[in-house]
Amino acid sequence: MPAASHVLDRVLVLEMVRVTENAAVAASKLIGRGDEKAADAAAVEAMREALNQLDFDGTVVIGEGERDEAPMLFIGEKVGRAIGTGPRIDIALDPLEGTTITAKAGPNALAVLAIAEQGGLLNAPDVYMDKIAVGPGYPDGVIDLSLGATANVAAVAAAKGVHPNEIIVCVLDRPRHEALIAELRSIGCGIMLIPDGDVAGVIATTNPDTGIDLYMGSGGAPEGVLAAAALRCVGGQMQGKLLFRNEDERSRARRWGIEDLDRIYGLTDMAKGDCIFAATGVTDGSMLKGVKRRKDGVITTQSVVMRASSGTIRWVSGEHRGHKHR
Ligand code: FBP
Repeated sequence: MPAASHVLDRVLVLEMVRVTENAAVAASKLIGRGDEKAADAAAVEAMREALNQLDFDGTVVIGEGERDEAPMLFIGEKVGRAIGTGPRIDIALDPLEGTTITAKAGPNALAVLAIAEQGGLLNAPDVYMDKIAVGPGYPDGVIDLSLGATANVAAVAAAKGVHPNEIIVCVLDRPRHEALIAELRSIGCGIMLIPDGDVAGVIATTNPDTGIDLYMGSGGAPEGVLAAAALRCVGGQMQGKLLFRNEDERSRARRWGIEDLDRIYGLTDMAKGDCIFAATGVTDGSMLKGVKRRKDGVITTQSVVMRASSGTIRWVSGEHRGHKHR
């Protein structure tokens, strides 16, 4: 377990929940309305507003995009109301993880963020990342991204004491995963195909109730860092490798200081030292219930906040009365 960070001690853990709750409640007004952009914009604005009420000197290191792409919560944006005076915190955020899910009222949309001391989170560019993750309780090194799917399933199956055809793998449902899916099917694995939302997909490996043993495939690199922060807190193993489709993406990565473009990142390469991860459900999912509006006007939320140094996981049910986003 990493040592507790005194810098993070000064940032109230539960304040993080207030931030993700604010984003989730704002996005929830757009659930099932078919408008990804509006849902994302509502979450971004609400998350920014909540972050700016906190007494820290925050820097967004994973956000909505580069400054010229994102009007708010862009990479490098300073947030908090103690800039220059408060504790220096790096923030990885995704105010709405699952914009399409929200637009279609599907499962597992989340408002998420992770914080660490300055320099604690990988400044991943917005490219794809090949990911593999497994939940807690396996021997170190049971997964290895440099090996194929078959070898990884065999290793996890052996460690679990089952046949490879009893292993369930979560994979994003994308044409680019055709070969991966075919390989997994050829060894008889169960595959849970998810339409979107691989932060929830990775975290699902840590929850026995989901039945998911492994996460595999490519998704956003920023989402990879957020998922890694969660696994640092809850346990489990994960590796990621940035994938570049063209020279522009490679030069983006170099701009963020990434020298070895073929590097395989482990959990602590993506989120090191003490860190805090918080998420609030927007729509119902495997980890969290979504935002609900009751007949009496109360808005209910469910969130989780966890910390790497203590391993504490807090489930927070919120009842919001007189909420400004109603
Ligand atoms: P958004 O919320 O930005 O739409 O991301 C959803 C998501 O499914 C992520 O969870 C995942 O990492 C990424 O998109 C996958 O990207 P793509 O849709 O291009 O395959």
